[in-house]
Amino acid sequence: MTSKEVTLTGRAREKIHTGSHPPFNESYRGTPPWDIGRPQSEWVKLVRSGEVRGRVLDAGCGTGESAIYFAQQGLDVWGIDSAPLAIEKAIRKAKACEVKVRFVLGDALHLGELGEKFDTITDTGLFHVFSDSDRALYSASLRSAMKRNGTFLMLCFSTKEPADWGGPRRVSEDEIHQTFTRRWKVNYVKETRIDTQFHEGGGHALLASITAA
Ligand SMILES: C[S@@+](CC[C@H](N)C(=O)[O-])C[C@H]1O[C@@H](n2cnc3c(N)ncnc32)[C@H](O)[C@@H]1O
Repeated sequence: MTSKEVTLTGRAREKIHTGSHPPFNESYRGTPPWDIGRPQSEWVKLVRSGEVRGRVLDAGCGTGESAIYFAQQGLDVWGIDSAPLAIEKAIRKAKACEVKVRFVLGDALHLGELGEKFDTITDTGLFHVFSDSDRALYSASLRSAMKRNGTFLMLCFSTKEPADWGGPRRVSEDEIHQTFTRRWKVNYVKETRIDTQFHEGGGHALLASITAA
């Protein structure tokens, strides 16, 4: 099998939203600290437990490590990111691994434009870059691309993570409940670790499972 497809979705074609965080595209000229060269440990566990299932979209997929892993486990996988260099790298990696993933250059705040529905949407480190107003947009966007009873699985830095090194917003459990209210059911929010290149044993994180009601 071969990978690949770069599709610029409608609104993204005009203006790709790069989040309120640093210019992500530039960071992909090198290897950014979140790009760990393997899937997050939590995703490996959740594939094994069957929580990552069916048609999967990885939102803010970066260079595709998690998406490629999901596809290697036999899942039907898409990945979307607003950074062209990330998507180019993801396509190259998938091709090298001879695995089929549909990578799309586009805006996770407008997932409805994909015209696709997913059973599982995963997010490693995207939600925590959004402003409060973008969080509301993101919740609606996720809902528009989710099958009924589909589940959003999110891994983000938690408020337990020290602020001394900068980085993205830290997220509290309350904030997750406040964002995913109507038409969502929060199944759990668990304390865990997020793997990075510079954290021994991972950074303090939250793993959330949220189902479209
Ligand atoms: C911290 S990185 C994490 C990347 C990847 N999930 C990983 O774990 O390696 C956040 C990613 O979100 C992407 N991003 C930021 N805003 C976005 C948006 N509105 N739509 C799609 N992707 C976005 C960035 O380009 C970046 O690749």
